[in-house]
Amino acid sequence: MRPKVIRPLTRSQFKSLLMATRKVRRIIENFNIPMHEPALGRWGIHDPPFLKKILHTAKFKQLAHQVFGENVRPTYSFLSMYSDQGELLPHTDQKLCEYSIALCIQQKKVWPLYIEKKPGSGTYWTYRLKPGEAVFYSGTRQRHHRKLRKKGNCCDIALFHFQGKK
Ligand SMILES: [Fe+2]
Repeated sequence: MRPKVIRPLTRSQFKSLLMATRKVRRIIENFNIPMHEPALGRWGIHDPPFLKKILHTAKFKQLAHQVFGENVRPTYSFLSMYSDQGELLPHTDQKLCEYSIALCIQQKKVWPLYIEKKPGSGTYWTYRLKPGEAVFYSGTRQRHHRKLRKKGNCCDIALFHFQGKK
């Protein structure tokens, strides 16, 4: 599939998500919480209530169904909070991420996401998301990566995953 960029949330939904994410960032900083995945330079939270709620709304599921062109069921959400260290090497995801939505919540600078055009082609589409924008792609079929972050750049991303209903 050709990935698509969409703003999937209403203004108020996005505002609540931003506020909730900022609270988590404050806790991480105030309590000096070590990174969950130091090799990736990130803290990660599986299914935080404020993401899980969005993932399971009828409207959000409908949008996923429409964009992915298949009847999908939500699997899990993930809050990915990146520091300015590490990088995301080219990879594909586990089967629970067959269809994925990566939403930019906040960032100091744009941090491009590269998604492979055809398996093994080595050519990539580049996505420079702004806060509120999300890219819809297949995590299992399309290799994706981000390059080494620049010092001082940090970036928070919401991931929403779906699988096709077979
Ligand atoms: Fe991935």
